Amino acid sequence: MHGGRRALFAANWKMNLLSSDIEDFLDDIIPVARESAAELVLFPTSVYLQKVARLTEGTEVKFGAQNIFWERCGAYTGEISAEMAADCGAKYILCGHSERRHIFSESAEMVTRKARAAQASGLIPLICVGETLAEREAGETLETLRNDIFCSLAAVGASADLVIAYEPVWAIGTGQVATPEDAETAIAYIRELIRELWGDLADEIRILYGGSVKPENISDLMACPNIDGALIGGASLDADSFAAIIANGENC
Ligand code: 13P
Repeated sequence: MHGGRRALFAANWKMNLLSSDIEDFLDDIIPVARESAAELVLFPTSVYLQKVARLTEGTEVKFGAQNIFWERCGAYTGEISAEMAADCGAKYILCGHSERRHIFSESAEMVTRKARAAQASGLIPLICVGETLAEREAGETLETLRNDIFCSLAAVGASADLVIAYEPVWAIGTGQVATPEDAETAIAYIRELIRELWGDLADEIRILYGGSVKPENISDLMACPNIDGALIGGASLDADSFAAIIANGENC
C-alpha cells in the first residue's frame, strides 16, 4: 500500500497456457489471493476468459482481456468487443501493450479508442506505456512517456480506477529489468503527467512496473514510493513464481 493505493499484481499470460495449465494455476493461486492484501488480476487469452470466469467465481482473483476491438459488434472477423469481455466477467482490459503496438502496429489513437471502449462497457483500462531501446539510448525516454500518456489519457474519462503500466520495451522478456531508480524516476514522472491532466486524481491512480519482473527483483521495485505493483509476463506463467512475487512484493 503506497499513499493509500492498494498493490496490484497482474499476470499477462500473452499467448501461453492451455486449459489444464490454467486449472492447475488457479488451484494454487486462489488460496494465495484469499490471504493477500494485494489485488490479483489474470490476463488469459480471450478463448479462456469464460473458463477463468468459472474457476474464479466467488474468489478474490480478478481477470481481464489482453485486447479488444473498440466497436460494440459487427463484421470484424477475429475480434472481441469490450462488451463481450464484460459479459464474460472481465474487470480489466490491457490497452497498448508494447507487443500490440509493435507487432500488430497499434497506434496511439487505436489505444485510446480501445481504452474508451473499455470504459464505456464499465471495464478498467490498464494502459501500457514505455520507451524502446532506441528511444532510451537517444535520451528520449521522458518525451516518449509524455507523448504516450498525453495521447492515451487525453480522450479517456478521468477516473481513479484507471491503471497505468510502465513497461520499457527493452526490459520485456529480456531478463534485463530496469533498476529500481530508473523505474521509480519514470513512474514518478508519469504520475506528474497525470497530475497535469487530472490534478490530484494522480495520487489515487495505480502505476505498475513491467519488464522482467521476478521473485528476486520485486522487493526492490516495490520499495519505491511510486511503484504500486507489477505487470508480469514470463514469471507469471508458473503459479509458484507468481505467488513468490506477490509474497516478496506486497509488504514493501
Ligand atoms: P516479462 O515479465 O516476460 O518481461 O513481460 C512483461 C510484460 O510484457 C507484461 O505485460
